Amino acid sequence: MADDEYDFFAPQPKPVPRQKNTMFDVVPDAFSPKTIEFTGDHRRVKRVPEQSASTAGSDDKKEETPASEEPKPVEETIKQYVVTEVEAEKWEGSAQSRLFIKGGKIVNDDQSIHADIYIEDGVIKQIGTNLVIPGGARTIEAQGKLIIPGGIDTHTHMQLPFMGTQAADDFYSGTKAALAGGTTMIIDFVLDQKGVPLLEAYDKWRNWADNKVCCDYGLHVAVTYWNDNVAKEMEVLTKERGINSFKMFLAYKDVFMLDDSELYASFKRCKELGALAMVHAENGHLIAEKSLEMIEAGISGPEAHEMCRPEEVEGEAVNRAIAVANQANCPLYIVKVMSKTSAQNIADAKRKGCVVFGEPIAASLGTDGTHQWNKCWRHAAGHVMGPPLRPDPTTPAYLMDLLANGDLQVTGTDNCTFNADQKALGKDDFRKIPNGVNGVEDRMSVIWEKGVNSGKMDPCRFVAVTSTNAAKLFNIYPQKGRIAVGSDADIVIWDPKQTRTISAKTHHQAVDFNIFEGMVCHGVPLYVISNGHVVVDEGQLRVTQGQGRFIPTPCNAEAVYGRIEAREVARKPAKVEREVYEGPVTQVKMNSVEMTPPQHRNKTTNVVMGDDTSDQFHNRPPTRSGGRNQQDSSFSFSADKILRKILLRCEGGCADLDSGGEYESCGNYELYGSQVDDAVPTRHKIKVSNPPGGKASGLW
Ligand code: URP
Ligand code: ZN
Repeated sequence: MADDEYDFFAPQPKPVPRQKNTMFDVVPDAFSPKTIEFTGDHRRVKRVPEQSASTAGSDDKKEETPASEEPKPVEETIKQYVVTEVEAEKWEGSAQSRLFIKGGKIVNDDQSIHADIYIEDGVIKQIGTNLVIPGGARTIEAQGKLIIPGGIDTHTHMQLPFMGTQAADDFYSGTKAALAGGTTMIIDFVLDQKGVPLLEAYDKWRNWADNKVCCDYGLHVAVTYWNDNVAKEMEVLTKERGINSFKMFLAYKDVFMLDDSELYASFKRCKELGALAMVHAENGHLIAEKSLEMIEAGISGPEAHEMCRPEEVEGEAVNRAIAVANQANCPLYIVKVMSKTSAQNIADAKRKGCVVFGEPIAASLGTDGTHQWNKCWRHAAGHVMGPPLRPDPTTPAYLMDLLANGDLQVTGTDNCTFNADQKALGKDDFRKIPNGVNGVEDRMSVIWEKGVNSGKMDPCRFVAVTSTNAAKLFNIYPQKGRIAVGSDADIVIWDPKQTRTISAKTHHQAVDFNIFEGMVCHGVPLYVISNGHVVVDEGQLRVTQGQGRFIPTPCNAEAVYGRIEAREVARKPAKVEREVYEGPVTQVKMNSVEMTPPQHRNKTTNVVMGDDTSDQFHNRPPTRSGGRNQQDSSFSFSADKILRKILLRCEGGCADLDSGGEYESCGNYELYGSQVDDAVPTRHKIKVSNPPGGKASGLW
C-alpha cells in the first residue's frame, strides 16, 4: 500500500455462519389496552402525585417537590453522581424478575402521568395506581423521579475495523457504557469492505455482537457497492434477517462511496422492500480534491479535516440525496446531521413535502468543532469525525432548536472511538486520523442538559427524540420506546435534579478520551432496567456480557412508509395520447463517438446508433403509406469499419471536408459504409457542402 493511501480495514476473522434468525415474534400484548386511563392532557397539569395504594412496597410517604416551588440554587442541587461497576449477580428465579416501580412520573412522548409500574419476565405487565402485585417483587421507590423509556441510540460503530485500526469500544464495553448512561438499545452498522457480500458481513457482525452485548441491539446494513447480487441480498436481509435499513455513502471516495445512479438504484430497491434508506451525506469528490489542496498548502493538522469538508460539502450532499430519494419516492434518513446548513436543508425539504428524517448526534448537539484548532494535537484529533464538528459555536444550539421543534427527529451518537495511539496514525497527515468520537454513554445526559435543562424541549419531547421516534422509524414501537403494558421493560428512572460531570476518568467506555470532558449535566439515570433486569442500581452498574438480544426490525414502518404508497399512485406518470408525428425528421449525425451520449451508441461496439433505445438500426415500422420510416437511419455500418474510419478521419485531418468539398468526395467517407437502400433505384444522391456534424475545423 502506498504511503499516502488509507488502509480502511484491519484484518478480520473469518465469519462464523449463523443460524437463520427466527426471532420475528412481536410482544403479544404490546398493543392491548393499558391498565391506566389516559384522560385529558396530563402533560401540562402540574400536580402532586397521589400515594400509590398498592399492596406491595412500603407505605412511607415521601414529599414530592411541589410544582410551584422555586428551583434550588445549582450549588445545592449538585451532587456528583458517578456510576461504578460491580460484579453482576445472576438473575435466578421468578421473584428476581418481578419489579415494582412506585410513585414516579411516567413520561412517554405524548403525555406524562403519575402511576406505578409492575414488571415481570422482562415485560411491563401493569401500569396504574391501585395495582395488585404478586408477592416477592422488588420495590423501587421513584417519587420525584421521572420514569422514561430506555434510550435507543440509532447510530453506533462498535469494534468497527476502520482506517487501519479497529474502534476501541467493542460490543461489550460499548453496550455496558450505553446502559450506564440510560441507553438500553443500540443500532449498529454492518459496514464491511467494499465487495464483501452483505450476508457475509451481516453474519460477521452478528457473531461479534451476540456474545458480547449487555443490552438489546439492532443492525443497519451499509451498501458500499452496487450490483444485482447486492439487490438480492437486501431482500434476504429484510425478509429473513431482521434488517429494515440500509446506509449509503456519498463520502469516502473509492472506499464506500456510491455514485448518483447507484444511489438511485439502491433507493429504488429500498422502496420496493419497504426499507429505510440512510445516507452519510458529504461530497466525496470535493473532499478528495480539497484534502490534496490542504496538504499542498502545508496544512496537515486536524483543523484541515474540517477545512477540506466545510458545511457546503455536507449541505450539497444532503440536498442531492433528498432529490435522488424523492425521485425514487423513497423515504430518506440523513445520518449524523452536523451542520446548520444540513439541518436547514432537511427542514426546507420537509416543508416541500419530502419524506426525510434527520439525525443529529450527541457530538453535534453537545460540542463544536473549534476543538479541532486546539493547540494540543491529541485533543484536536480526538474531535475528528465525519462529517466534521463545525467551528461555528452556535451550531449545537441551532440543531437542538430544530430537534425540539420537529424538523429533526431522532438522535444517535455515531459512537466510533479511537485511543490516542490510534488517532496518532494521522499525526503527520490529517487524512490518516481515524474518524470517530464517543457519545453512547453520554447522549441522554447531554440532550437533557442542552435540550431540557435549557428550556428548549419538555421531557416528553426528550423521550421522543431519545427513544420513541427511533422505535417508530425502525419499526419496533411500542415494544421499545414506550412505557406501556406489553412493552419491553427497558426503563430508566431519571433524576432530573442530580448532576454528574462527564469525564474519561469515570466513564465506562474503553476509550481514553471524552469529547464532553468536564461538562456538568443535570439529569442522571438513577436506575436502568434492561429487559426487566436492574443494571444500574443507585449508582452501581451490574451488567452481564451477552445478556442483550438481537432485535429484528421489520420493514414497512408506518412512520416511514405510511405516505409512500399513496404518493406512488398520485405520482404515476401518465402518457399523452396523440397523433403520430409524420413530418420530416433530420438524420442522426454520424460524427464522433465521443460527442454522442452512451444511449446512442451500440452497447458492445460503442458505435454511434441511429436510434436511442435499440441496438437495431431499422426497428421502426413502415409509415402508413408503406415507406421506410424516416426516423430510421438510412445508413448501415459495420462497426469495426466505422471505428476504423473515425480514427482515419481524425488522423487524416479530413482535408477534403475542411476545404468544403462534397461529402462523397472525401476518400475517408467512402469507406463509411453502404446505405441500406443503395439498391433502390429511386434513391437520390445526397450532396452536401458541409459534412454532417460540421467541418473538421469545428468541434470534431
Ligand atoms: O467519523 C466517523 N463517523 N466514523 C465512523 C464511520 C462513519 O463515517 O460513520
Ligand atoms: Zn457512522
